[in-house]
Amino acid sequence: MSYGGFSDDVIDYVRDLFAPEDDTFRKITEAAHAVGMPLDWEISPDIGRLFQMFCAMTDAKRVLEFGTFAGHSALWFSRALPENGKVVSIELNPVYADFARGQLAMAGVGEKVEVRTIGAREALQPLVDEIAAGAERYDIVFLDTEKAFYPLFLDWAPRLLRPGGVLLADNVLRSGSWKGQTLLDPNSDDARIIAIRQFNRMLAEHPDFVSTIVPMRAGVAVGVYSPDKNM
Ligand SMILES: C[S@@+](CC[C@H](N)C(=O)[O-])C[C@H]1O[C@@H](n2cnc3c(N)ncnc32)[C@H](O)[C@@H]1O
Repeated sequence: MSYGGFSDDVIDYVRDLFAPEDDTFRKITEAAHAVGMPLDWEISPDIGRLFQMFCAMTDAKRVLEFGTFAGHSALWFSRALPENGKVVSIELNPVYADFARGQLAMAGVGEKVEVRTIGAREALQPLVDEIAAGAERYDIVFLDTEKAFYPLFLDWAPRLLRPGGVLLADNVLRSGSWKGQTLLDPNSDDARIIAIRQFNRMLAEHPDFVSTIVPMRAGVAVGVYSPDKNM
């Protein structure tokens, strides 16, 4: 049975009702555009609100995200954490990392967010080493960069998440950067699409994750790390 897709105005209705964008987010977006940063790379407010729900559901204190950009998702997460909560955000581009640090400080969450200027794959082993040395595991891990390597990040996720923690990944159904190629077209040969098909299947079949894809915006994969649950 097909219910058809919701039109943009219905989707925007949900966004405006549950996640009205405030001045702080608007200022970050305007400042990013003013310095020539790309348009629309950040998660939309309704996705930010969804992520805050996962923080509330997991009583999150520690969030790890791959892909900082201008700091929007880090701000959504940081606002959902307690005073002693922490977001570790990984960004390869030092200009974007500096921009985000400045904006997050102005937004009053500079103490809560640590932006690390390093490649996402290169960050993995040091993050696992920190946990081996006694750092707490993460309640939420959010993938939003290096889409061609999502399967690799899924392999590492159980070493970063606590049981009951949640893996989130953006763009698992579509992306404006796929140049018209689509997930379900077998002729699509973009490396990111091939990797995301593999990631989605791996996550769906993973014995240690209870998962689905929320088909909002570009598609958000959600996997609750549940080792030994056998659901
Ligand atoms: C889609 S944007 C992130 C948006 C951000 N999560 C938000 O919603 O506000 C992806 C970011 O990943 C960064 N990036 C690209 N390649 C990377 C890599 N290899 N390692 C870490 N970050 C990378 C880009 O510079 C860009 O800022």
